[in-house]
Amino acid sequence: MAISVTTSPFLRPLHQLQFPKCPLFSSKSHFRPLTQRTIRAISAVAVESELSTQQDQAIEGDVFACPVCYEPLIRKGPSGLNLSAIYRSGFMCKRCKKSYSSKDRYLDLTVTAGLRDYTEIQPARTELFRSPLVSFLYERGWRQNFRQSGFPGPDEEFNMAQEYFESAKGGLLVDVSCGSGLFSRKFAKSGTYSGVIALDFSENMLRQCYDFIKKDDALSTANIALVRADVSRLPFASGSVDAVHAGAALHCWPSPSNAVAEITRILKSGGTFVGSTFLRYSSLTPWFLRPFRERTAQGYGFLTEEEIKDLFTSCGLTNYSSKIQQAFIMFTAQKP
Ligand SMILES: C[S@@+](CC[C@H](N)C(=O)[O-])C[C@H]1O[C@@H](n2cnc3c(N)ncnc32)[C@H](O)[C@@H]1O
Repeated sequence: MAISVTTSPFLRPLHQLQFPKCPLFSSKSHFRPLTQRTIRAISAVAVESELSTQQDQAIEGDVFACPVCYEPLIRKGPSGLNLSAIYRSGFMCKRCKKSYSSKDRYLDLTVTAGLRDYTEIQPARTELFRSPLVSFLYERGWRQNFRQSGFPGPDEEFNMAQEYFESAKGGLLVDVSCGSGLFSRKFAKSGTYSGVIALDFSENMLRQCYDFIKKDDALSTANIALVRADVSRLPFASGSVDAVHAGAALHCWPSPSNAVAEITRILKSGGTFVGSTFLRYSSLTPWFLRPFRERTAQGYGFLTEEEIKDLFTSCGLTNYSSKIQQAFIMFTAQKP
């Protein structure tokens, strides 16, 4: 008996699913739609299991979720987290049917992906890093200046983060606000993780990251994906990620509380968050300098250590610990 499956998006004939932007879904594609095959079964359960076996061949539930409704995205295209597989894939939310595809050099998973008329301006500390010039200069001098505030430098910061991530070995790591991928590339090269997702809101930072990856033979086929997303709306299902890293980023986020809540949401139970930022002042800052630091910190999201710890606790993170050097703080916490 031939059964036409038309109810939920997963049970709907796959040729009815629309992936408007990806060339893979055009009629000229070499990709053979599964739905042109007749599905035969004697019960709905049998149909579902046959379909899911076929989906494994070409359409799979992915690590990515829709930033609108957090449903896992259906992926059509080659599997894998490397640049070429992601670029050749199209993604669609099985609930709201919004489609997503690679734009330029990264997969755009912002809520505004694909919009023609509506644009949104973020706070200055986010917009600054969208500039092509700042993105270009970032690893060519800008970041080196952080040393003056106590940042130990990329190699040492990477080693510190790796120690904190001990329990996440072999898992999926998301480098939130990766910039031009300084640490994403180190995480991918380390071979410690099953996959690394370099995620940032800035299109130009992601383009820089792509260029750096392409110049490095050891990385061009590695399990590293470039994703544009807003930290306040992370495109991952709840409890799906083993490790989240966010270097020198908390002070750039429009709402640190929304961001930490989102990071907590996507972490698996036992998952680890490691980040760094500039402190507004530390316990070592003399009292007479603190009012000055309060004033100069206006307009930036520089927090105190107490505020960071309070924020993490309010989002339900536990096992908080930190290392401080002048204004540099690296902090870690876990999802219970
Ligand atoms: C100072 S850079 C840090 C880059 C890198 N992680 C590092 O350790 O050097 C801060 C980054 O935060 C990103 N950012 C700012 N607002 C963001 C948002 N709403 N969502 C995601 N990333 C954001 C910026 O685009 C920028 O690349």
